Amino acid sequence: MDDDTAGTTAPAHPVLDLSAEELLTTTRSVRRRLDLDRPVDPALLRRCIEIATQAPSGRHQQDWHFVVVTEPSVRARLADLWRAGIGRGDSPMSDEQLRRAHVRPGSMEKVWDGLRHLSENLHRVPVLVIPCIEGRTDGLGADRQASRWGSLFPAVWSFMLAARLHGLGTVLTTGTMAVERDVAALLGIPHESVMQAGLIPVAHTVGTDFRPAPRIPVDEVVHRDRW
Ligand SMILES: Cc1cc2nc3c(=O)[nH]c(=O)nc-3n(C[C@H](O)[C@H](O)[C@H](O)COP(=O)(O)O)c2cc1C
Repeated sequence: MDDDTAGTTAPAHPVLDLSAEELLTTTRSVRRRLDLDRPVDPALLRRCIEIATQAPSGRHQQDWHFVVVTEPSVRARLADLWRAGIGRGDSPMSDEQLRRAHVRPGSMEKVWDGLRHLSENLHRVPVLVIPCIEGRTDGLGADRQASRWGSLFPAVWSFMLAARLHGLGTVLTTGTMAVERDVAALLGIPHESVMQAGLIPVAHTVGTDFRPAPRIPVDEVVHRDRW
């Protein structure tokens, strides 16, 4: 057998025809275009998590966990908790934060509209994923916070990119962290030793065409040699 072609069987789960740059610039927060009626193959979800575990973690501890909820009655209870928690822990936005959020007229209204839609339909989203990490950082300094959260979010984002590559849509939601204890009790997560990082609804997307989002000009965020 030719070495170059050895093992080149078709992937078990087809991937979208996207360049790496397209993948990185079109992985959107999907709320309105989640297909609520199409089931997600558990093996596909497992593959996305497997890809995510290639992300780096501090001291290579690999102590992330992904709680995957598909059972309808558990999803319904989780969705109720999510609705109870959303917005509870939010701090008010500064004028500068508001300016950035409204970088394009109507962009924030679109977010609120999507949030309302998600809130009304969360129990119908086929998969709810709760990313977690071992070790709590409550009350610890920025150094410990950075290494703990930094050990999880690269894997979380890799999971979301892998999902997009396979035709799935996701949106990271942290608004429910106010009810983290209730979620832990519902799902049997050991709250005293494991931190949740939010909840990610996952479903096939309605259509696969997504565009880069309007963002503030890159020169507003780049600082050369000093702030
Ligand atoms: C740390 C973080 C927390 C977020 N929390 C929520 C949330 O609680 N609920 C929600 O609907 N979206 C949440 N989002 C999604 C943002 O609202 C989303 O990134 C924004 O709508 C921009 O979407 P875009 O990247 O597709 O432009 C969160 C995103 C991040 C990065």
